[in-house]
Amino acid sequence: MRRHDLLAELHRLLSPRSYLEIGVNVGGSMTLSRTRSIGIDPYYSLTQELLCDVHLVRTSSDEFFAREHPLAHFDEPLIDLAFIDGMHLAEYAFRDFVNVERFTHPGSVVVIDDMLPRDVPEARRDRSVPSGRTAWAGDVYKILATLRELRPDLVCLEVDTAPTGTVVVINPDPTNRALLEAADDVVESYVVPDPQDVPAAILDRRRAHQPEALLDLPVWGELVAARDLPVADARARVTQAVAPLRAV
Ligand SMILES: C[S@@+](CC[C@H](N)C(=O)[O-])C[C@H]1O[C@@H](n2cnc3c(N)ncnc32)[C@H](O)[C@@H]1O
Repeated sequence: MRRHDLLAELHRLLSPRSYLEIGVNVGGSMTLSRTRSIGIDPYYSLTQELLCDVHLVRTSSDEFFAREHPLAHFDEPLIDLAFIDGMHLAEYAFRDFVNVERFTHPGSVVVIDDMLPRDVPEARRDRSVPSGRTAWAGDVYKILATLRELRPDLVCLEVDTAPTGTVVVINPDPTNRALLEAADDVVESYVVPDPQDVPAAILDRRRAHQPEALLDLPVWGELVAARDLPVADARARVTQAVAPLRAV
C-alpha cells in the first residue's frame, strides 16, 4: 500500500473534523481531504484539484506555529488528523510534531511520512548528494527513537507503506512537556554528518505493521468516539483502546 492510500483510509475511518498538513507540494495528499483543512508549505505549487475548505499558508511550519492563533481557520484550535511531510530533516520533523501536539486531543492521530528509509543513502541529510533513489527520506526516522524514549505514553506505529514508510502516532497529549524540555539536546544530537547510522530495525522494517491489518483494528472507531467525551474520559477510553497495540 502506498502512503496516500493509508492516508485516504485514515480519512475514511476517522472522518476528521479538521486536517492539518505540513508539506503540500503539488497537493497530492491534500486532495484526499474532504474536511476543514490547513496546508502549510513555503513553496507549494498546486497541480491537483482540492476538494475541501482549505487555508493554504505559504510559509514554513515553524513560522506558522509561531503565529498567535495559527488554527483560526478551524472552529476550535484542535486537529483531528495531521500529516507531517515537510522538511525531511529530523530537527524539523521533531519541531513539527511538538507543534502539532499542542493542538491535539486524546483521539487525534498524527501521521509522519518518510520514517522508514530503505537504505542509508536514502536517509542522507544532504539532499544534493545523489543516492540512486528518486525519493528523499532524509533522517526524520530519528524522531521515532526520541518519541519512544521520552514519551512512552505515545503509541508510535511503524507502517510498511511505499515508498519510504510511515509512522502513525496515537494518544497525543498536549499537556506533556517532555519533548519541549529535551528539545535543545535532542536537536543537537540529530545534526551529524552523512552517512547516517540508520538502525537495522528501521531499514528492514521488522517492527512495521502491514497497513491493511492495522486499518482493520477497532482502535479507529474508539478514537472517533473519544472526541465527544470530556478530556479525562476520552483519555481513559483511548488508553484502553490502545493497550493491545502496545503489546505488538
Ligand atoms: C514531500 S513534499 C510534500 C508532499 C505532499 N505531502 C504529498 O504527499 O503529496 C515536501 C514539501 O515540504 C515542503 N517544505 C519544505 N520545508 C518546509 C517547511 N519548513 N515547512 C513546511 N513545508 C516545508 C516543500 O516545499 C515540499 O513541497
